Amino acid sequence: DRTELVKAREALGVGGQALSGKVDLALVPTMGALHEGHRSLIRLAREKADHVAVSIFVNPLQFGPNEDLSRYPRTFDTDLEICAAEGVSLVFSPSAETMYLPDRQVGVSAGRMGTIVEGASRPGHLDGVLTVVLKLFNLVQPDVAVFGQKDAQQLAMIRRMAADLDLPISIVGAPTVREADGLALSSRNRYLSPQDRRAALALSRALFEGAGQRTPGEIRRVARAVLEGEPSLDVDYLVLVDPATFAEVGEDHVGEAILAVAAKVGSTRLIDNVTVVV
Ligand code: PAJ
Repeated sequence: DRTELVKAREALGVGGQALSGKVDLALVPTMGALHEGHRSLIRLAREKADHVAVSIFVNPLQFGPNEDLSRYPRTFDTDLEICAAEGVSLVFSPSAETMYLPDRQVGVSAGRMGTIVEGASRPGHLDGVLTVVLKLFNLVQPDVAVFGQKDAQQLAMIRRMAADLDLPISIVGAPTVREADGLALSSRNRYLSPQDRRAALALSRALFEGAGQRTPGEIRRVARAVLEGEPSLDVDYLVLVDPATFAEVGEDHVGEAILAVAAKVGSTRLIDNVTVVV
C-alpha cells in the first residue's frame, strides 16, 4: 500500500542527489501481464535512471462497462520474476481500494482530445488513464516516466497532461515491439485463436503497406484495402492523424503523421499504429 511504497522509496535513497549523471528514478506504469514490449520499456527506463519502478495496476477507471476488466490477464508471479530479471528496484501493485477512495470525486479530464479516435470508441477511457497516471506520478514521484508508442494516443495525451498541468516529470516514448511476422505485442494477444492470430496480422500489414505510400489519400486507401481483404476483422477505425493532436491530417499535410488502426478479431479488440512521413 502507500505506506510501504514510501518506505521502499526511502530505502532506495531516491529524492536526493542522483548518481552517475542519470536521474534518480524512472517509472514504467503497466497493467501487468508483462511481455517483451514492457521489458523493452524497463530497459529504456534503466538507461535513463539509477532506479526503475514498475507499477502493476489493472485500472478499473479506464475500462468501459462492457469491456474486459474482469477477464484482463493477471500473471502477478511471472510479472515479479520478469521485474527481478530486468533489475527493477521497486514494484508498486496497489489494490483498487488503495488507489480509489470510496467517495472519490475529482479526476483528470482528457478534454476534447480524449473524445476523438480511441476516445470516440471508448468514452471515458482516456480520462481514466490520465487520472491513474497522475496518481501514480504523485505516489511514486519519478523523474522520468516511460510509455510505449503502441498506445500512441495515450502517449500523446500524457505528454499533453504533462504540458498542461506543469508536471515535473519527463515523458519518454518507446518504440513498439513486434513479433517476427509484424503483430504488435499485447497482453490481449493470448486470447487469439490460431485463426484469429492469422487475421490479426492484417492490422500491421495494412499499416506497413499504407506507410509505403506517398500522399495521405493513398496511405488511407491502401491501408483500408488491406483491412477489407481480411473479412474476419471488424474494423473500428483507420485514421491518419497529427502525432500531437490526433486530428485527421489533410491532403496538404507535410511531416510526420500517425496511421492508427483499431479492430476486433473475434471478441478481442486490438490496436496498432505506425509513424509515416508525408
Ligand atoms: P499496459 O497495456 O500494460 O501497457 C503498459 C505500457 O507498455 C504502455 O506504455 C504501453 O504503451 C506499453 N506497451 C504495450 N505493448 C507494447 C509493445 N508491443 N511495444 C512497446 N510498448 C508496449 O497502457 C497501459 O497498460 C495503461 O493504460 C497504463 C498506462 C498502465 C495506465 O493504466
